[in-house]
Amino acid sequence: MMKMKLLLFLSGVLWVSADVLHQDLNIKGCSDSDGEFMYALDGEELWYADFKKGKGVEPQPPFVVHSSYPEGMYQFAVGDVQICRTNLGLRRKAMKDIPLERDAPSNLVIYPRDEVELGEKNILVCHVSGFYPAPVNVSWTRNGQKVTEGTSINVPFPSKDSSFTQISRLQFVPQLGDIYSCSVEHLALEEPMTRTWDVEMDNPQSGPGPSIFCGVGLTIGLLGVAVGTFFLIKGNECS
Ligand SMILES: *[C@@H]1O[C@H](CO)[C@@H](O)[C@H](O)[C@H]1NC(C)=O
Repeated sequence: MMKMKLLLFLSGVLWVSADVLHQDLNIKGCSDSDGEFMYALDGEELWYADFKKGKGVEPQPPFVVHSSYPEGMYQFAVGDVQICRTNLGLRRKAMKDIPLERDAPSNLVIYPRDEVELGEKNILVCHVSGFYPAPVNVSWTRNGQKVTEGTSINVPFPSKDSSFTQISRLQFVPQLGDIYSCSVEHLALEEPMTRTWDVEMDNPQSGPGPSIFCGVGLTIGLLGVAVGTFFLIKGNECS
């Protein structure tokens, strides 16, 4: 019933097996420094091994019916990534160390998940895609200060063109004038790529915005000067 399709990613650095019939995806991959083991359904992460925390994670919110994953799943993932790394070494030897393809992120956007309401909890999303190999490092700042609390990042997700996408999130409470930034580090970037977002600019409740009032004020002011000058000249003519 299940048809497995084995894709071998370039340079053997990441290899992915995908079951296409149900858009059920099992992503396994490794590089010398990183590894990934994830189950996804229709693009949503169901389970992944968090190698930094040393456990399996089910990122779906509680209202989603969770599939049950066996207890030993995490250990299995660890073993699998080790095998991947061994294979990677062998393949690299066989291929005489061909250089690794490197593609910098082609797209980076930052946006709030929900419509911005001042003082209301929200989530800033930093969406980075088009890079190879995985992963990227994403860091956040608020008014120039680094923020780590309330941040998370998903595991790299492969696209059809064999590049990757990652999404980082920051829980935040919008306050007028606050400026946020998300910076992305990648192997193919010499400098981090950064996008900023500020609460004022994107806040739709503040009506036409201060620049309009400024413009109107300036116009009225100039009109006043013109009228004043007109009467000044007229007045001089009369005397
Ligand atoms: C990401 O951060 C880790 C830890 O600071 C570092 O070792 C690694 O080189 C970084 N990766 C990239 C792509 O900059």
